[in-house]
Amino acid sequence: MSRITIIDTDPGIDDAVAILLALVSPEFDVAGITTVAGNIGIDTVTRNAGRILALAGRGDIPVIPGAAAPLSRKGFDTADIHGSDGLGGVTFPEPVSEPLPGPAWTWIADMLDRHPKGTVDILALGPLTNIAMLVRERPESASRIGRLIAMGGAVHERGNVGPRAEFNIAADPEAADIVFRAGLPLVLVPLDVTRRVRATKADTAFLRESGTPAAKASADLVDAYFQSTGSGESRPLHDPCVMLFAMRPDLFELSPLRLSVDCGFGEDAGALGLSDDGPEVSVAMKVLGAEALALLAERLTRPPPPVPDAPASSRN
Ligand code: BDR
Ligand code: CA
Repeated sequence: MSRITIIDTDPGIDDAVAILLALVSPEFDVAGITTVAGNIGIDTVTRNAGRILALAGRGDIPVIPGAAAPLSRKGFDTADIHGSDGLGGVTFPEPVSEPLPGPAWTWIADMLDRHPKGTVDILALGPLTNIAMLVRERPESASRIGRLIAMGGAVHERGNVGPRAEFNIAADPEAADIVFRAGLPLVLVPLDVTRRVRATKADTAFLRESGTPAAKASADLVDAYFQSTGSGESRPLHDPCVMLFAMRPDLFELSPLRLSVDCGFGEDAGALGLSDDGPEVSVAMKVLGAEALALLAERLTRPPPPVPDAPASSRN
């Protein structure tokens, strides 16, 4: 069954693959893409969301800009990984429509209020700033979320921006702390599993050969990721793991963990800790990596689904 889905994202190479995966998967009725500064600034990630939708032939889906900066600190610059355009220099068409007026959290809250409680999911692929603003500004609306599945953090894995800190949490630790404490139906998808779902050059060649727009663009994006992050046999598909969990939770193993977030300013700002006083969060700690990758490849190489008659933004 298709679930109403909001993708909150900072595209971003792996965000783009994740969005393309959602758009070709019948489990998701993508109602809107909300953007957050993270991998690159808010104007670029918002334009990128529109470019990805244009490539997928889904210019009917609205893009709504969100937070331009973390709640209370300066953001990172990751142009060395995602390129100065955020999408590794891969060719995408221009957006077919202008973004809606923001801010994203108001749009998300209105969507949650318009639909029965528990029927709207949020897939969060970037820093949690927009979701923290939703919790702060519209807590009643936030309590209506069906599922909140967020890529972020590292539990037993080493970090990717600090010894134990992962980018999405480190980019806005205060936001993550607010979201973890909010009692939302949250599943966190950390590096502990996203580093187990990896694409090789053989995988990108297979995707490219299939010739579907989503598969070809994903192949180009992962190849760009290979170029920017140096040598190695394979690349982790961080953000697509959120979509894969939403589609097939049985491929993952969840652990209830009490987590704390390092909200300091040291080299491990944003690192997660296991703490008896912390809020309990459901964390995906294991994954059947080969099966998850096979599902991603199967979906991206399917012929694109027909575009629905009614624009997603007009549904209520
Ligand atoms: C996360 O950081 C970003 O750079 C990726 O898009 C992903 O969301 C991985 O740590
Ligand atoms: Ca991301």
